[in-house]
Amino acid sequence: MEQGNLSMVAEFILLGLTESRELQIFFFIFFAIVYTATVFGNLIIILTVTFEPHLHSPMYFLLANLSFIDMSLASFATPKMIHSLASKHKAITYQGCMAQMFFLHLFGGSEMMLLVAMAIDRYIAICKPLHYATIMNYHTCFGLVLLSWMTGFVHTMSQMSFTVTLPFCGPNVVDSFFCDLPRVIKLACLDTYVLELLVIADSGLLSLICFILLLISYSIILVTVRLHSSNRSSKALSTLSAHITVVVLFFGPCVFIYVWPFSSISMDKTLSVFYTIFTPLLNPIIYTFRNKDMKRSIKKLKNQLLSSTYLDHL
Ligand SMILES: *[C@@H]1O[C@H](CO)[C@@H](O)[C@H](O)[C@H]1NC(C)=O
Repeated sequence: MEQGNLSMVAEFILLGLTESRELQIFFFIFFAIVYTATVFGNLIIILTVTFEPHLHSPMYFLLANLSFIDMSLASFATPKMIHSLASKHKAITYQGCMAQMFFLHLFGGSEMMLLVAMAIDRYIAICKPLHYATIMNYHTCFGLVLLSWMTGFVHTMSQMSFTVTLPFCGPNVVDSFFCDLPRVIKLACLDTYVLELLVIADSGLLSLICFILLLISYSIILVTVRLHSSNRSSKALSTLSAHITVVVLFFGPCVFIYVWPFSSISMDKTLSVFYTIFTPLLNPIIYTFRNKDMKRSIKKLKNQLLSSTYLDHL
């Protein structure tokens, strides 16, 4: 009898970012704009890379894949949060909650590995320029994309496989705007201390390993660029600074949350806004504004679109 009643939580309550009504209205407008811009900006990058033969190179393929992951990362929780801000509807079903955690770690893990793949691509282009075309062929590029999705999948499965078996028998209030794995695990009717450590170690280790790999590859690249001062290297430097900005913005909050042992819970909530909402918007901004080829291609595509709709009307 009692056993059957154990796993009874049918929904979780997400407290959201704030309880103040005025702030909720402000956040509703603000995040609706940010979300729309994120989807729009990343779609432009994907369409430009797909339809512009000039941009069919490994670097831009990886960039388009990053945009795809960014768009997914922005979509797993933000639309629901925006909706709750407007409707005061704070509940999320048990299945919805599990899905949010699954997708956050799938997309988050894939994005980290893809950033490493982009660093490897730049490393080969700058440090082994003569072998670039042979090493970074379509198969390698496809392999790197596959590797990042596999990493994300293994990472999320390693945590979700035991999370879905946890019994939730009463407490169901999550103090965040999405189902955050460490917080949800705390609600289970078990002693979850070991599981909490496992989750922190799992995500922490993945972010730390990727971060160290990125640090090493970008250090080598920067040293190489400094040694060969030519006008090619100034272009490389501007591409690199875009990459490094993205890496710092994405990993800063992650490493802080999972690796820094003294961070407080309320701090975590604010920081998670960064990697779920702001970074996916920043990637298109940083890459399109800093990159001349990208800007030129977007303009060309826009003109083609305009002239073709014009011709349709003739
Ligand atoms: C992702 O990368 C693969 C392999 O390089 C490429 O074929 C594909 O078009 C890219 N995806 C997007 C959305 O551009």
